[in-house]
Amino acid sequence: MTIRFRLNGAELQFDGATDMPLLWYLRDYAGLTGTKFGCGIAACGACTVHVDGGALRSCVLPMQALAGKDIRTIEDLGANGLHAVQRAWIQEDVPQCGYCQSGQIMAAADLLTRIPQPTDSDIATITNICRCGTYPRIRKAIHRAAAILKEESTA
Ligand code: FES
Ligand code: FES
Repeated sequence: MTIRFRLNGAELQFDGATDMPLLWYLRDYAGLTGTKFGCGIAACGACTVHVDGGALRSCVLPMQALAGKDIRTIEDLGANGLHAVQRAWIQEDVPQCGYCQSGQIMAAADLLTRIPQPTDSDIATITNICRCGTYPRIRKAIHRAAAILKEESTA
């Protein structure tokens, strides 16, 4: 079975095991190691990518579910200049060890697409885990990214 999909703007096809998780494909086939393996059971969010614009956990997404889908990873988020979330992350100096951060950024970018001016409660709906406890800086950075995007939309 050939699965055709788009990855970071490129049209691709896959003829391997259809039950293989997307995360395996990204890291081992596509060489996109910015997306991390944490738990493998959809609990931590380290593997978060965008599929058709929404944040999903790639460790539990089988390749067969991706036919016709548009997948975007952290490598593409800032490909044409850093995304507002990435700029805010730098300004707030968010990461500690960094392991969870690509997933956090992809989740935050998705949140801001759905809710441009999120409240703390909205931000708390992001369930990605950070073992270093960077949650307060993540919250500040998401508010900062929201302000950047608002400013850019009115400029
Ligand atoms: S590695 Fe996918 S949610 Fe933890
Ligand atoms: S920065 Fe270390 S796990 Fe989040």
